[in-house]
Amino acid sequence: MPQKQLTAPDILAAKGQRRLAVLTAYDYPTGLLADEAGADVILVGDSLGMVCLGLPDTLGVTMADMLHHTKAAARAVKKALLVADMPFLSYQTGIETAVANAGRFIQESGARAVKVEGGAEFAPHIRAMLSAGIPVMGHLGLTPQQMARLGGFKAQGKTARAAQKLLEDARALAEAGCFSLVLEAVPAEVAARITAEVEIPTIGIGAGPDCDGQVLVFHDILGLCPGLRPSFVKRYADLWTPAREALSAYCAEVRGGAFPAEAQTRRMDPEELKEFTRGREYGDA
Ligand code: KIV
Repeated sequence: MPQKQLTAPDILAAKGQRRLAVLTAYDYPTGLLADEAGADVILVGDSLGMVCLGLPDTLGVTMADMLHHTKAAARAVKKALLVADMPFLSYQTGIETAVANAGRFIQESGARAVKVEGGAEFAPHIRAMLSAGIPVMGHLGLTPQQMARLGGFKAQGKTARAAQKLLEDARALAEAGCFSLVLEAVPAEVAARITAEVEIPTIGIGAGPDCDGQVLVFHDILGLCPGLRPSFVKRYADLWTPAREALSAYCAEVRGGAFPAEAQTRRMDPEELKEFTRGREYGDA
């Protein structure tokens, strides 16, 4: 019997029962791989901008980009809960806009929940989305859409005061009805305290081992992003080097005439070839 696709209430109910494995995905093949690997939640993150679109940060990612990529991932994801990240300015400008854009993800892309970055100031937006029937995942700590204000990709919650603010924001998001909460780049002690105090699952990324689940970016896990990676990323494979070597081998074989070889070549039926070689003309009429 096919396995039932996980829902936002299933993820909420996992709190205290089992640890949640969350992966990002951005299109059909990455969605298929993440789903086959057994992720509980697949997030089409706005990290899309950096790992797929070649942007320096997430600020240039648009609703059109996110809808296009979420639709592709949705065609692949059959078991995990599919969550779409709401991009910069798709919800910050007002509650009505937030509900309308969140609704587009549900109606047009096949996502079954959305994620928003930010604290208590977005509780009214989250309540309105929930009233419309849209489950919401929160995101606190390093919130990349705020990087211009934060002065870059910097760890958050390092002072007692900042940690207390994170705790209050986490409580506000849980009270507003979020079904789970991403904690990014915060000290492990802060994530542990939030995890113990809120009734929704926390999903850590650079937030230590005590969260209810973990999330990593697809390309980081597989070594598909050349260049620097954050210290909290564990690279489970380096696919960049073998991929580049395979592509270079192809280019060399094309130039040297080794590709295509006989195995990749389709030949004509010998009788047809004889006739073709004799040069018989066929009238079309
Ligand atoms: O955009 C993203 O991929 C994210 C995850 C890192 C949580 O927000």
